[in-house]
Amino acid sequence: MDLGLTNKVVLISGGARGIGEGIVRGVAAEGGIPVIVDRKRETAERLVDDLANQDRPALFVHTELSDPAQCQQAVEESLSHFGRLDALVNNAGTNDGVGLASGSPETFVASFHKNLHHYYYLAHFALDALKQSRGAVVNISSKTAVTGQGNTSAYAAAKGAQLALTREWAVELLPFGIRVNAIVPAEVMTPMYEEWLQSFPDAEAKRRAIVQNIPLGQRMTTKEEIAAMVLFLISSHAAHITGQCIHVDGGYVHLDRALVWDEGREMGEEGDRRDSHADT
Ligand SMILES: NC(=O)c1ccc[n+]([C@@H]2O[C@H](COP(=O)([O-])OP(=O)(O)OC[C@H]3O[C@@H](n4cnc5c(N)ncnc54)[C@H](O)[C@@H]3O)[C@@H](O)[C@H]2O)c1
Repeated sequence: MDLGLTNKVVLISGGARGIGEGIVRGVAAEGGIPVIVDRKRETAERLVDDLANQDRPALFVHTELSDPAQCQQAVEESLSHFGRLDALVNNAGTNDGVGLASGSPETFVASFHKNLHHYYYLAHFALDALKQSRGAVVNISSKTAVTGQGNTSAYAAAKGAQLALTREWAVELLPFGIRVNAIVPAEVMTPMYEEWLQSFPDAEAKRRAIVQNIPLGQRMTTKEEIAAMVLFLISSHAAHITGQCIHVDGGYVHLDRALVWDEGREMGEEGDRRDSHADT
């Protein structure tokens, strides 16, 4: 299927690594032009160089997304290079474990700010360009928005707000033909996820316990599988899809855990893996 993304300019926050990198590489592979907006300079520059070696153009704009002025600068720099913007993918975020007991009013506000507000900033500053292109927005949320996780109040609240904004913006932008959708991942192996796993005494045992609860294939979703949904949603093939929150998670959130198979035997309803949490 030709997604028709050739020369489409796609701004991706947090595009230097993890899910964002998957989206960047996916856009480039489809002949689009990814704009990486991230604070990790070296990682992003390596990615741009790697794409350049494959004759794939890409732009990196060094940005601290918690600063609205830098978000505005990122959009303006992208527009000054390419003169258009066809899609915005709000992706950057960090599950930083600011909980009810472990956090404080100050850390809650700081975490909420750095996880949520740049989704609005980038959409706000990109709006005129998106109106011109009748473009698309994709917000990367998290299953924590709908399942909770425990000990991560600000992150979960920000992820829930992203789902609310997806519907809100889909409505506001209907007259302009701008579609807005969200993807809700659950368990995707990325540098952030790996760092979190390493905080356990036995990271590999923790990983095994988690994947046993993922219904489809008992494996994590890959960043390429998240990217594939992004590419579809920003393409004209999704021309009549807006305001949707799409779970790309191997059935993690919605399917009955009693259906999970383990080494050829079916788990009982009260299977002994109920203590293993997914943590993103
Ligand atoms: N990995 C998972 O299992 C998972 C599950 C659900 C949701 N998500 C969501 O997917 C998105 C990407 O997560 P990931 O696992 O790829 O994370 P990651 O940490 O591996 O990559 C995130 C990227 O965003 C950048 N970034 C974060 N905050 C930034 C800021 N304030 N300014 C500039 N750059 C910033 C980082 O530098 C990094 O390059 C996040 O929104 C996360 O909530 C991930």
